[in-house]
Amino acid sequence: MSSPASKINPVELDSLLRDIAHLEEIVSEWDEQKRGTVEALKRAIDDLNREALSRLIRALKASPATQDALRDAVSDQVVYAVMRYHQLIKPSLDERIENALESVRPFLKSHGGDVELVQVVAPDQVTIRLVGACDGCPASALTLTEGVEKAIREYCPEITRIIKAKGGASVRAGASSGTDSTESTVVHFISPFARDTDCGWIDATGLDEIPEAGIMPLDLAGQSILLSRRGDRVTCFQNACAHLGMPLDMGIVRDGILVCPHHGFEYALDSGECLTAPEVQLQVHAVRVVGKRVEVRFS
Ligand code: FES
Repeated sequence: MSSPASKINPVELDSLLRDIAHLEEIVSEWDEQKRGTVEALKRAIDDLNREALSRLIRALKASPATQDALRDAVSDQVVYAVMRYHQLIKPSLDERIENALESVRPFLKSHGGDVELVQVVAPDQVTIRLVGACDGCPASALTLTEGVEKAIREYCPEITRIIKAKGGASVRAGASSGTDSTESTVVHFISPFARDTDCGWIDATGLDEIPEAGIMPLDLAGQSILLSRRGDRVTCFQNACAHLGMPLDMGIVRDGILVCPHHGFEYALDSGECLTAPEVQLQVHAVRVVGKRVEVRFS
């Protein structure tokens, strides 16, 4: 291995990385106690290095001239990687957006879809596109709002504009603010994802028959569904808990949250999101209100 004081050229760097990987492989085969000792030693050395680097950064930030030097140094790949390893540099905006999208991909893929990053316009704008089964899916706008958008805002709080590229799902009425919308229909409409087409709607019930802030079970076209209403906003879900698929209609509703009567899973009635196990949610059906009638469409 090269001595710490020597200048490392690219070839030596490769060799150094190979040495590290090789040593890690050897240690991984040791018994737990020995591995624990090595881990503790590594943590202590990391802590020492992090503290030294922090002090160095503080010193270099002290004057404009050395700030430039620091910026130059960090543009070096190895310096950047080591600083990142020690969490002394925040990941770039692009990297954080990719991480946000990656965090929701398992959920999207479980629905046969995916999300693409189209463009990042620093400091506050991102364009994305839902693809696969998510594109045009009745629930995709909701998916976008509740999943993708939430993840982006969480990982990148500076993003204030999230734009959907054409060809992907569009966030409709009821979507959260700060997102471009493509309102175009004259149908008096409630569900955030129900305006894609005039085909396939089934008359379900009168708006007033659904209890305010409550739920109403219904058998419709061979499906067991649950309708819920808050004012003139209606949502529709399959009457099946995401836990074991048992009916939810005997569940208690409190403050917009439905509690499954079987094992207590909780669901937000405005989205179907499961608050107990965030990786699952109720199956959502498109719903709209025409006049005083509620219509449902099964995808
Ligand atoms: S079936 Fe609903 S929580 Fe188990």
